Amino acid sequence: MRSKVTVVGSGNVGATTAQRLVDQQLADVVLVDILEGIPQGKALDLLEAGPVEGYDFQLTGTNDYGDTKDSDVVVITAGLPRKPGMSRDDLLLKNAGIVKQVTENIVRHSPECIIIVVSNPLDAMCQVAKSVSGFPRERLLGMAGILDSARFRTFIAQELNVSVENTHAFVLGGHGDTMVPLPRYSTVAGIPITELMPPDRVEALVQRTRDGGAEIVGLLKQGSAFYAPSASAVEMVEAILRDKKKILPCCVYLEGEYGVNDLYVGVPVKLGSRGAEEVIEITLSDPEKAQLQHSVDAVAELVKVLKENKILS
Ligand code: LAC
Repeated sequence: MRSKVTVVGSGNVGATTAQRLVDQQLADVVLVDILEGIPQGKALDLLEAGPVEGYDFQLTGTNDYGDTKDSDVVVITAGLPRKPGMSRDDLLLKNAGIVKQVTENIVRHSPECIIIVVSNPLDAMCQVAKSVSGFPRERLLGMAGILDSARFRTFIAQELNVSVENTHAFVLGGHGDTMVPLPRYSTVAGIPITELMPPDRVEALVQRTRDGGAEIVGLLKQGSAFYAPSASAVEMVEAILRDKKKILPCCVYLEGEYGVNDLYVGVPVKLGSRGAEEVIEITLSDPEKAQLQHSVDAVAELVKVLKENKILS
């Protein structure tokens, strides 16, 4: 039987996510948005690419959440993107309202789905979606670590003039300025990058990774990155639909792991058909622990603001 994936938001991230899903032969796709005509037009355009690209999947563009009924996976991309000079956190209250409404609609029609949140500020938006949906943590996670790691991998490959396929990287923590790229766990053909480049170059790549989203926003002037974010979201969808048991850095609700309770933070997770099937705890050095704690504190601060504004209880 075919899988069904709903993508909420028909902007750049949503539309490229839909495109990658059918290009990779993964699922029928419903693209839903409050804007009239945009999801319909983009879905029809993608459908008409099918004969050339060789996919037979259904693509539906709609403003009606009824069409999303019984989705297996839902990717939430709805929300305002950053403008130059804005941090992801500046979007907090506006996007919290949007994610709240979207989640209510999704859960009404697909109570058994797995939700992947992409909207920013990511960790806080996951917290909103979890509180609205009441979903167990297995079925509600966020995309950030794969994107941040992909950026780190890109920079590592460029620096050392090696294939990106040889690179591996882990970026933990919140998807914000405090994210924690882990050089010790970032490797080329299994060799930690700390053995392959001097400390100042490692630090430069780490900083570029932290600033990776802002670098794109600064270049585009309007809107934020979408090719790498959609590729990263689709890697999660694929791991779930194909039950790959793939270990990827994802934003997940921690229940004591890493000493963190009741908060969404990026850590390695095993993704399979049940969603976040396992949280993997890796050993961190004291400085790494301190960095992660700093990032956790930044996420907790956003959650506090949401509570003060009665968006979270
Ligand atoms: C980025 C935005 C999408 O990192 O958070 O590009």
